Amino acid sequence: MKLTFRPLLFHLLLCCATLTLGVHIHSDPEVSSDGVIQTELKKTVSLLCLPDSGSDTQADEELVWLRNGAVVSLKEENRKGRSSVCVTPIIHDDNGATFTCHLGGNATVSASVTLNVTYQPQLCGSEDIIVEEEAVLVLRCDIWANPAVSSVLWSLNGSEVDLIAGGFTLANDGFTSQLSANGAKKSLHAGTYQCTANSPVYGEHSKYYQVTVTEKVIKFPLMPMIAGLVVVFLTGLLAVFSRWSRITKCCK
Ligand SMILES: *[C@@H]1O[C@H](CO)[C@@H](O)[C@H](O)[C@H]1NC(C)=O
Ligand SMILES: *[C@@H]1O[C@H](CO)[C@@H](O)[C@H](O)[C@H]1NC(C)=O
Ligand SMILES: *[C@@H]1O[C@H](CO)[C@@H](O)[C@H](O)[C@H]1NC(C)=O
Repeated sequence: MKLTFRPLLFHLLLCCATLTLGVHIHSDPEVSSDGVIQTELKKTVSLLCLPDSGSDTQADEELVWLRNGAVVSLKEENRKGRSSVCVTPIIHDDNGATFTCHLGGNATVSASVTLNVTYQPQLCGSEDIIVEEEAVLVLRCDIWANPAVSSVLWSLNGSEVDLIAGGFTLANDGFTSQLSANGAKKSLHAGTYQCTANSPVYGEHSKYYQVTVTEKVIKFPLMPMIAGLVVVFLTGLLAVFSRWSRITKCCK
């Protein structure tokens, strides 16, 4: 009895071994050797997960997809034997996202790919900026990009902005480059500004700013004005009131 069972058991083990060989991911665009898929905003990435070939019983292997560790909900017919996921359109949030496919019965049998979404800074056109004398001048330039921009250059009337001479402050938080000046002066700050970001992949992109410095408007002194009116009104009332006794006396 024992002897006849052995080959069968061996056969079963062999069968199970081929079942858990592994899974692999086919993708469009193709995955690089380090498991990264290069893509861009608004494009589409198609992923297909298949159990490794080696046994014909894999056709009904249940497959599970995860996006950054969270289960992707799939239709019933898209889970057995082969399973596809389509990421469209690609958005900023997909950058760095990891898609993992594993066997429904054994999560350690898995394959992963990571998306690298490249995008350029949104720089184009020209913006008109009007600032009053002595007010704060702020110019913002989008530099959010993948890969990060290698340089940002601000120029005024064609030559590099002189931060010290113009009393400018330059700030950069990785998303925006901000050039600002407290106390705008026509002689120092009016003109055509240009922000140029240099991307190692997308090259140079620029945005222009036409800055006009207007004369300071004397603000109408509203509060003293109201106070004055109240005083005038009260004096008038008092005058009428003091005369009233005379008027009433007269009528008696
Ligand atoms: C899952 O697969 C791994 C690798 O093939 C294997 O070592 C492990 O025993 C399997 N676990 C189960 C519960 O089948
Ligand atoms: C993403 O792609 C860009 C452009 O090819 C590359 O410079 C960058 O190193 C890539 N990043 C990752 C995390 O692979
Ligand atoms: C820049 O050029 C404009 C137009 O020629 C001029 O009015 C302005 O004063 C210049 N700005 C500076 C800071 O030189």
